[in-house]
Amino acid sequence: MGRNLALNLADHGSRVALYDPWPEAREAFAASSSAQVDSLALTASLQDFVAALARPRRIILLVKAGDAVDAQITALTHLLDAGDLIADAGNSHYRESERRGARLAAQGLQFLGVGLSGGEAGARKGPSLMVGGSPEAYALVENTLRQVAAKADGESCSALLGGDGAGHFVKMLHNGVEYAAMQLIAETYQALRAHLALEPAEIGAVFARWRQGSLDSYLTGITAEILSHEDSASGGPLVDVILDKAGQKGTGLWAAKAALELGVPAPTLLEAVSARALSMLKEEREAAEGRLAAASRPEATTDVADLEQALLASMICVYAQGFAVMAAGAREFGWDLDLGRSASVWREGSILKARLLDAIVAAYGADPALPNLLVAPALSDMLARAQDGWRRAVAALALHGTPAPALGSALAYYDSYRCGRLPADLIQAQRDFFGAHGFERIDRPGSFHGDWGGQGSNDP
Ligand code: 6PG
Repeated sequence: MGRNLALNLADHGSRVALYDPWPEAREAFAASSSAQVDSLALTASLQDFVAALARPRRIILLVKAGDAVDAQITALTHLLDAGDLIADAGNSHYRESERRGARLAAQGLQFLGVGLSGGEAGARKGPSLMVGGSPEAYALVENTLRQVAAKADGESCSALLGGDGAGHFVKMLHNGVEYAAMQLIAETYQALRAHLALEPAEIGAVFARWRQGSLDSYLTGITAEILSHEDSASGGPLVDVILDKAGQKGTGLWAAKAALELGVPAPTLLEAVSARALSMLKEEREAAEGRLAAASRPEATTDVADLEQALLASMICVYAQGFAVMAAGAREFGWDLDLGRSASVWREGSILKARLLDAIVAAYGADPALPNLLVAPALSDMLARAQDGWRRAVAALALHGTPAPALGSALAYYDSYRCGRLPADLIQAQRDFFGAHGFERIDRPGSFHGDWGGQGSNDP
């Protein structure tokens, strides 16, 4: 990533100094980048690296999130002068970025926490950059970041979104939505495969067709490509020789935890993390397959059109969940987070690049205080048109025994959010019955207890 971002910076006229503590990495870079070697100063020590930078020095870290970032910052700070900037562009946790910003400010140094999306290709050709930090720190690199970032309709996909942790907070939610979107796509693939007996290449063609409409996105695009990919060793579809255990570096889990800590319902983001954990139980699942009864009504079916509607509606729900958590985080941490701008920087360069983002940007442009994307007129209309197929698809998959935790949780989220009276009244009564926790009434203010006739405090 660091190599690619350096080349991207050089392509846009920056004179770039690089330092990598691994000699073999330095040698490999020197050999592979001869075309730009004159605009890249590859240094062999941290001291040489710092000495090669004009003041105020502007340093971008691309190191593994966690202790390595702190170690690198510690190694750098005594070589820097007041006003110099360190920008951490790894997948750091937002609370770590808040802490690092305060630590560097106490030393008279500037800090930016930069959420970078787009992977290796994005770093080279144009990432999406979600920046957190002070306006003064951002001013040191704003033009450079805007140049190297991806462009959407001529607008740079780089923006200052709030305080030190805001950039990594938005990136964390980007990844929470990314996990959920990937899970939704995977469930739709499985439904097309197991339920409608399509082959991977046929399903790839379905996703390619869906890209002509509102489901156009980076993830549906790579899915179409992946499913059409043959494995040279086996001669069959590559996807069929890949072990069905999905790894995770943790950013999706962080997003799920943040949703729970902030008290924001984001069930599909949580289901996506659970689904990865369930995928790791390969041996248990193989053993259970022969023990647990399968569905008795395999004839229940849905069709490609229903599944397209189910995927589209569920995608709207996961973006709604992700932005609801972002809004809550902004309130909690005092960031003046522009949700429309946050969506806008994802429109190119990011893994979440999707045609739906145009509607999301427009929704927040029309109403920056929108309580939830589900009630944005254009999106609620899309949900209304999709819901019949969505419901048929979720019902058919349940009857057929095809697992669809994300598709199902998105539908439950939609139905819960549009339900004016949930059965939480009964839960309050239960809590008061056994725990005397009290409840509010709908007809008068105050806290009340039920007259359980003394049963409430007894043993169950
Ligand atoms: C991006 C991605 C990237 C992420 C990897 C691994 O926006 O470019 O989100 O930052 O870290 O895709 O993610 P997991 O291992 O957590 O799935």
